[in-house]
Amino acid sequence: CGIVGYVGPRDARDVVLEGLRRLEYRGYDSAGIAVVADGTLTSAKKAGKLANLEKVLADQPLPAATIGIGHTRWATHGGPTDRNAHPHLSADGTVAVIHNGIIENFAVLRAECESSGVEFTSDTDTEVTAHLLAAAYTALPEGPGRLAEAMRTVSRRLEGAFTLVATCVAEPDTVVASRRSSPLVVGVGDGEYFLGSDVAAFIGHTREALELGQDQVVEIDRTRGVTVTDFHGATVQPTAYTVDWDAEAAEKGGYDWFMLKEIAEQPRAIADTLLGRLGANGGLVLDEVRLSDQELRDIDKIFVVSCGTSFHAGLIAKYAIEHWTRIPVEVELASEFRYRDPVLDRSTLVVVISQSGETMDTLMALRHARDQKARVLAICNANGSTIPRESDAVLYTHAGPEVAVASTKGFLTQIVACYLVGLFLAQVRGVKYEDEVAAIVADLRRLPDAVAEVLAGMDAVRELARELADANTILFLGRHVGYPVALEGALKLKELAYIHAEGFAAGELKHGPIAVVDQGTPVIVVVPSPNSRESVHGKVVSNIQEVRARGARTIVIAEEGDEAVVPFADHLIRVPRLPTLLAPVVTVVPLQVLACEIADTRGLDVDQPRNLAKSVTVE
Ligand code: G6P
Repeated sequence: CGIVGYVGPRDARDVVLEGLRRLEYRGYDSAGIAVVADGTLTSAKKAGKLANLEKVLADQPLPAATIGIGHTRWATHGGPTDRNAHPHLSADGTVAVIHNGIIENFAVLRAECESSGVEFTSDTDTEVTAHLLAAAYTALPEGPGRLAEAMRTVSRRLEGAFTLVATCVAEPDTVVASRRSSPLVVGVGDGEYFLGSDVAAFIGHTREALELGQDQVVEIDRTRGVTVTDFHGATVQPTAYTVDWDAEAAEKGGYDWFMLKEIAEQPRAIADTLLGRLGANGGLVLDEVRLSDQELRDIDKIFVVSCGTSFHAGLIAKYAIEHWTRIPVEVELASEFRYRDPVLDRSTLVVVISQSGETMDTLMALRHARDQKARVLAICNANGSTIPRESDAVLYTHAGPEVAVASTKGFLTQIVACYLVGLFLAQVRGVKYEDEVAAIVADLRRLPDAVAEVLAGMDAVRELARELADANTILFLGRHVGYPVALEGALKLKELAYIHAEGFAAGELKHGPIAVVDQGTPVIVVVPSPNSRESVHGKVVSNIQEVRARGARTIVIAEEGDEAVVPFADHLIRVPRLPTLLAPVVTVVPLQVLACEIADTRGLDVDQPRNLAKSVTVE
């Protein structure tokens, strides 16, 4: 969910709504706002996107105020309805609360409130905290810090993961918040203070931020400033940092969709990921990997753990890392990993990949790995997010903010970061000679231009998108590193265009999937380089013929100069020639554009597909 809080001289209504607009990608099932002005607490909330709330506010404006809180929701407990939207108010209307996460013991707490006569007005786990806060507040003596103390009292009783932000009618200059295993950052302006589920909430106003730790309560107050304590009231010194994303970087910049903008940013994003990491002598410089050379040499097994698109980056990583380092690599969905009781120890490296750094499944997998004494290296895009903070080391992808729910530049930079990890390990362990590493590094440097070249030729893909927009099923085939690309192409199409799509290892075709191929079925084939080490190219060309013989309409992605595919391709999309292991960085790009354009042709919301959220902070 997206969370904003504000205390300061500006009109809090504007600041909160602007923050919510920037955070809408974190959840868009409903939105709400509460302000305290002239001794009253008023709120408004509405199911659906933020625009719905804005309509309500246009008809019935809230009073101008100097403090406010706001929320965009991705539903967990209780459906996405008006009454379940946040903020939730205490029964007496004195306290308003917004919440991200899940309060696991809410049923017990709710029963307790009900037995003391409180009537609940929603199905959420959140509402209980509003009632508890009001009760705790009333029980405390008057004085500064009273709301924060009430928040600590309540937080100590909560189980689960939560960010809670609250205002109280009696405290017109104060907003308080509490966090456990759920994101919250503080923005520090000139005489004004912000709270946000991420820095996008306040980036238009300040770049100075404070990072909060686990189990901490923060008070932002117009006169007292920022005070952070643990749940027992001991003062904590938060870590200050400066955000290097500017407001414009988080805007759409001329494109119809954030996704199109982010696709176009991929050459730059890859260049930024490589920046400062390719040494002059061809070696790699990964200072952020805070594991000693000895620790890196001791690694005897690698797990790559992630979800969704990031999982596909992991699958590609397996091919590259195993090949370059000769260390066995297993790739696993984060939601399965810890339940399987994986064999982990001090010499296991667990690489967790997460664009947002907040995915709960991945976070739980990482905690499990650390409990088992494995070393955890995070590949992550969002600076200061939970996953890198809890890892032994982190390699940031530097892709910049990714707003569209479907990951594109996040994905490409994850793949590149995986290459860096693989080569770095190979270098440290001496598996690859320096000149071999240098040769691959030289190829890595070509990637931004190679992606730009693919993007320059996308008109034909746009045309193809219009032809495929009515398809019921689209199949994707690939071999070797082309297989994860096929999976990603299918995922993108499902996510964005709501078309049934499946990716298969081309070799598996004959073991079942070929039965679904019918007259006119579109089949998209990712063809490996004819120069690839194994003879996979010829096999994939045969696979194209096999589906074509059953009536399929073939859309072939092949490198420039590959003539063998020409007779069997109904549509041919060319990509620049790269070494086999690096090819996914270019072959996936037309599939991103295709899914985006098909969704657009079908009149769908490309940036915010139904039922999905950018950052899934529940298991
Ligand atoms: C969500 C998003 C996906 C994303 C996945 C993993 O499900 O909708 O696009 O790939 O989370 O996200 P992460 O931030 O951990 O990479």
